[in-house]
Amino acid sequence: MSVVAPIKALCLHIKTICALLLKRGSMYLEEETDKKSEVISCIFSLKEEVGALARGLRLFEEKGINLTHIESRPSRMNKDQYEFFISVDSTCSQALDEVIDGLRTQISGHVHELSRNKEKDTVPWFPNDIQDLDRFANQILSYGSELDADHPGFTDPVYRARRKEFADIAYNYRHGQTIPRVEYTEEERVTWGMVFKELKSLYPTHACREHNRVFPLLEKYCGYRQDNIPQLEDVSRFLQSCTGFRLRPVAGLLSSRDFLAGLAFRVFHSTQYIRHSSKPTYTPEPDICHELLGHVPLFADPSFAQFSQEIGLASLGAPDEYIEKLATVYWFTVEFGLCKQGSEIKAYGAGLLSSFGELQYCLTDKPNLQPFDPDKTSLQKYPITEYQPIYFVAESFEDGKEKVRKFASTIPRPFTVRYNPYTQSIEVLDNTQQLRNLADSINSEVGKLCEALRKLQ
Ligand SMILES: [Fe+2]
Repeated sequence: MSVVAPIKALCLHIKTICALLLKRGSMYLEEETDKKSEVISCIFSLKEEVGALARGLRLFEEKGINLTHIESRPSRMNKDQYEFFISVDSTCSQALDEVIDGLRTQISGHVHELSRNKEKDTVPWFPNDIQDLDRFANQILSYGSELDADHPGFTDPVYRARRKEFADIAYNYRHGQTIPRVEYTEEERVTWGMVFKELKSLYPTHACREHNRVFPLLEKYCGYRQDNIPQLEDVSRFLQSCTGFRLRPVAGLLSSRDFLAGLAFRVFHSTQYIRHSSKPTYTPEPDICHELLGHVPLFADPSFAQFSQEIGLASLGAPDEYIEKLATVYWFTVEFGLCKQGSEIKAYGAGLLSSFGELQYCLTDKPNLQPFDPDKTSLQKYPITEYQPIYFVAESFEDGKEKVRKFASTIPRPFTVRYNPYTQSIEVLDNTQQLRNLADSINSEVGKLCEALRKLQ
């Protein structure tokens, strides 16, 4: 299908185009930013045949809908199709429903509705491609330099200025760039050193075996030392070589939806600043000690990496109430999880592995331990400023992953998603061609498995 002529015609309908960019070979027309909160978007794909797009556009015209944004690109899923991303003004909501029905029934187009604002029957927007994480990187709930009045650094102008430097680095970061290196001050290194020394002494007895297996590698390859704060870029490269996980600096607090979406791409949004030196054993928010000592070692473990990604994939397009449930599951696993290891229970949650006090407390007989069960865990209330009264214990990461996957299947959304590591994109499995592609790929993997088994015999 020649898309050039219909696209030119279509441009006559577009009211608010302010930029035309070339983005990885596809045409990308960017809408005015102040319109973003008022638009409804959808993606539809059409077979390559003469007049298909014109017929699709006629449906919009018949309903009097003005398109405020359009992108086109060859479909990654089906080589004989083109995909069109369109946005319309939210006042066209009802008419758009009728157009979508028409696209599905009259011209056999595949349609995904995407929206952050439309109230009914739609799937909330989610990133399709790892580069899409740039789109919400700066939609933060608070900038990293804005401190609450009870923050230990609130009255320290030097610390506040430093926090702004870190927030600015993250704010300007884009996918694919090298994470800027930071020259940490002597005061910052001393704070890190105190935290590092204390926690390291507890890991052999309190941390799970996966954490203890990876930690020496981080010392060997990433500069984990008492007198050195490792650089995010070095750690990110190390993680990529282990599990494909990567770090991305974050300028402030992301919404749960956006944070979890990063995990679907094996991207972990990480802070780069350190807690205030006046209270080295306390931080009211995640800092680099929490990220590097608590999270990073586990993301280097293949099974845990898959488990974390599973939570992220479950969040894509999920309704708000399920995002809250998944954020709670994340809290009780990735942040505060315990797991069985032989006859013992060990810590794998980053909130525990980065807190000297709670790491000791969680393995005493004081807290209440419950088996990890996403149906129940996702509903559990929890305090954020004190030690957890309840922890959930996983049988293993594999078991936890299966349970999260099962839980994800109960989330009401009209499709299944899968991450394609080759294209670093999300595949929405909602039509037979995509399922056929997946079956082909599994078939090829199973073929390799059988061949390897034959050779072993
Ligand atoms: Fe964390």
